[in-house]
Amino acid sequence: MITQTPPLPLDYCMLRCKFGTAIEIGTYYGGWTRYLANSFENVVTFQTMQQHRLNDFAWTQHDHAGVQRVWADRMREQLPVQYQGPYDFNFLVDNIKDMDNVTCLLTNSPPRMPWYLRYDLCVIDITRSPDENLRQYMFWRDYANQDGILLIGIHCPADYDGWTITEEQFLSQITEPWHFVPDVIGRWICVNL
Ligand SMILES: C[S@@+](CC[C@H](N)C(=O)[O-])C[C@H]1O[C@@H](n2cnc3c(N)ncnc32)[C@H](O)[C@@H]1O
Repeated sequence: MITQTPPLPLDYCMLRCKFGTAIEIGTYYGGWTRYLANSFENVVTFQTMQQHRLNDFAWTQHDHAGVQRVWADRMREQLPVQYQGPYDFNFLVDNIKDMDNVTCLLTNSPPRMPWYLRYDLCVIDITRSPDENLRQYMFWRDYANQDGILLIGIHCPADYDGWTITEEQFLSQITEPWHFVPDVIGRWICVNL
């Protein structure tokens, strides 16, 4: 199971939600997807096909200011050498094709198509951009079942990233009760819907 992010934030939310439908935004190579599929009846996972959003091995090593990313060593150890290059969609398929309860959508979130499926847990692990996380929150908050949970990795925006809103401005627009997930690597918020 190849995970870019240790699944501790998932463990936290899975102690607090029903195991009907999970929606995952940003699967990478299906690691969290399997984790979810082992417990939920139904999992829908999104993976972008847009080059500028797609994490590949090079991206996992350093950010655009040359700072080593926290998960660089983790990825070097987990990814077979032949996949330590451009993102490979065949490898994604290899990793998820045996999971009958998983639907993988190769498209950006939020989706352009009309959306009807509601979730018990939605996990968003795609960016440290407050702008982007706000855009995702604004869409996905409307599709939760009662007592659903939205988990968002907000990570640490850096000065040079140049977002149009700050993390505080993003957090101030969340209208439902939320809190930081305790005792995890990175910074995660759990929104109770
Ligand atoms: C940090 S990784 C997710 C890692 C995953 N939680 C794990 O540990 O295995 C983020 C993934 O989201 C994808 N992604 C980024 N923006 C996206 C978007 N708007 N819609 C769908 N996928 C996106 C990237 O290509 C990347 O594979």
